[in-house]
This record gives sequence, C-alpha cells and structure tokens, in this order.
Amino acid sequence: MTAKILVTGGAGYIGSHAVKALGEKGYQVLTYDSLVSGHPWAILFGSLVVGDLLDGKTLAETIGDYQPAAVVHFAAHIVVPESVASPLKYYVNNVQGTLNLLSAMRKCGVSKLIFSSSAAVYGVPERVPISEAAPLQPINPYGHTKAVVEQALEDLSFAGEISYVSLRYFNVAGADREGRIGEGKEDATHLITLAARTAAGKRPFLSVFGTDYPTPDGTCIRDYIHVEDLAEAHVLALEHLLQGGGSEVFNCGYGKGYSVLEVIEAAKKVTGVNFPVKYEGRRLGDPPALVADAQRIRAKLGWSPLADDLEQIVDGAWRWEQKRPRR
Ligand SMILES: NC(=O)c1ccc[n+]([C@@H]2O[C@H](COP(=O)([O-])OP(=O)(O)OC[C@H]3O[C@@H](n4cnc5c(N)ncnc54)[C@H](O)[C@@H]3O)[C@@H](O)[C@H]2O)c1
Repeated sequence: MTAKILVTGGAGYIGSHAVKALGEKGYQVLTYDSLVSGHPWAILFGSLVVGDLLDGKTLAETIGDYQPAAVVHFAAHIVVPESVASPLKYYVNNVQGTLNLLSAMRKCGVSKLIFSSSAAVYGVPERVPISEAAPLQPINPYGHTKAVVEQALEDLSFAGEISYVSLRYFNVAGADREGRIGEGKEDATHLITLAARTAAGKRPFLSVFGTDYPTPDGTCIRDYIHVEDLAEAHVLALEHLLQGGGSEVFNCGYGKGYSVLEVIEAAKKVTGVNFPVKYEGRRLGDPPALVADAQRIRAKLGWSPLADDLEQIVDGAWRWEQKRPRR
C-alpha cells in the first residue's frame, strides 16, 4: 500500500500542485485546509478536511484518524506587506499554527515533516547566489515567522522528536502543464501572475517598483521557479524522509535571476499584448537581487528541474489566467 500523506494548505497555489504530484505518484493524500485563501477546485487528488491549524482539536482528530506517514506543511499567510501591517496575524497563523501542527503530530506519533520556508529568511543577502549556510536575517514579519519555525524544527530534530526537510522557495510561478490548476488568489501579488492578469485586461497596468537598483537595468532580480518543479522537490524530499533520511534544509530555485524588465519583456512576447507598465518608486524592504545557490538539492535529492525556462513559466501563467475560475 502507498503511504498516506497529510497536506496542510493543499487547496492553495503551491500545495495543490504538490497534491497533484503526490497523487500522480500513487500516494494517498488528505488535504487539511481552512480555505482562507485556497479553493476546493484546486484539489485534484484525495479528499479535503476543512479545518484550521489554530483549531488544535480538529487537527489532532484528523491526524489521529488518518495516521499519515508524513505531513507536508504549506498552510500559512504569505503576503509580506500585510505581515508588516498586521504582524500578530502572521505570528499566530504561521508560528502558532505550526506549533499546533507539531503538537498534534507528536500526540499521534507522526514525526516526518516537509516545511514550506522561503528566501525571505535571508533578508538582504550579503552574497548572491545565496547558499543555505547564509545567515538568516529576515527583514519583515513574514520572513521572521518562517525563520522562527525553522529554528523550532531544528530544535525538535536535535531532540530526536522529528525529522524534517525545510524547503526555502525563491519566486514561485507558472501553472500545471495541463492547465487544470494555477494561482487562484484574487489578491495575488507576484510579478508573473500580475503580468498575466494585466495582459488579460484584468488590471489596468503593471507597476515596476524601483528602477535605480544596483543591477544591470536598475530593476530587481529574482530567481523564478516553476511550481511543478517545486512540487517535484517536495516528492523527493518526502521520499528522502520516508526512506529514513535525516533533517535537511534546501534552497529551491534555478540559480539564475531575471530582472523585472526581463520578465515584462518575456510576458509581452508570450502573450502578444503590449500591456501598460507604470514606473514607481522602490518599495520598502525589496532586496536588489535574490538568486539561489541551488546545488545542494540537486546533489542530495537528485532534483532535476524540467521547466527551467522563463518563457515556459510565463506561458503557463498566461494560459491559466485565461481560464481561472473567479470566486
Ligand atoms: N508563493 C510563493 O512564491 C512562496 C514563496 C516562498 C514560500 N511560500 C510558502 O509556500 C506556502 C504556500 O504558499 P502559496 O503561495 O501556495 O499560498 P496560498 O495562500 O495559495 O496557500 C496557502 C493555503 O493554506 C491555507 N491556510 C492558511 N492558513 C491556514 C490555517 N491556519 N489553517 C488551515 N489552512 C490554512 C489557505 O487556505 C491556502 O489554501 C506558504 O507557506 C508560503 O509561505 C510561497
């Protein structure tokens, strides 16, 4: 029998792609999601328990009844500016929610966890590309919540209570190759999604925040990773743990950066729409460049991405945007 996996946040953008990847590999999947920002239509495999991480009773009952071999934990709030304005909301959901999950897992004898971390833990990096050994210096509450959870996981692992893999995602983009799922949040804030929505006429213009960064064209550089390659990284991380592997932390990116203007050029080419762009001032707390040193996950898990191509990523987002259900 294939292993049973509990996925928190499996109705969300990245979680739903991981559910799909796990389901296609034959895992039995149960999604636990409050639907605060996720959608039931996004769950292509297994079933859904609508529940909140903050509801420790339902969480423990769900884990106790299901007895998963491991938990893949995506559920969190993810909007950086909102975390600056409402830090308590972020600490409660992302930190307290994860501690509830760890308590429920312990109560039920489940000890393997994959955690969605973020490049936000690095803050403004001293060196690019960024290796996993770089200091964690988050510059906003969202990044702090991820770093705090990583510390808790390290401590629990050291105490022998869990084994975990923490995946530090860089900029996640794109959509399912068959076009069935993609970014579903009406208020999504990521560049490629916004470019696709602007090209589709759903937004009047695309803002570029800052043109005077110390980069070749003055705009910020980011490492964009296709959501399906990221989903596959979760499958490999899970297999590592299920085969008895120890705790690990990996960057998830391609090790290659594109500027905002390069993304816009790709989006105009792929969509064939010369959409309006508005140049604005810098936003607070945007590092000039975030690019992963992504050697480690390739070497240790044998991760071998299939969609390391900006135009392919943008094309997926664009095709998805044209059929995305509205809520
Ligand atoms: N999108 C990115 O580029 C990116 C980058 C780095 C890290 N991450 C991390 O990846 C994870 C998933 O991000 P996403 O873009 O898919 O976000 P998302 O908002 O689409 O998905 C999050 C899911 O978690 C659920 N959820 C939130 N709080 C919950 C709670 N208390 N109880 C139960 N369910 C809850 C939501 O309903 C949603 O389905 C998050 O942990 C995020 O911090 C995302």
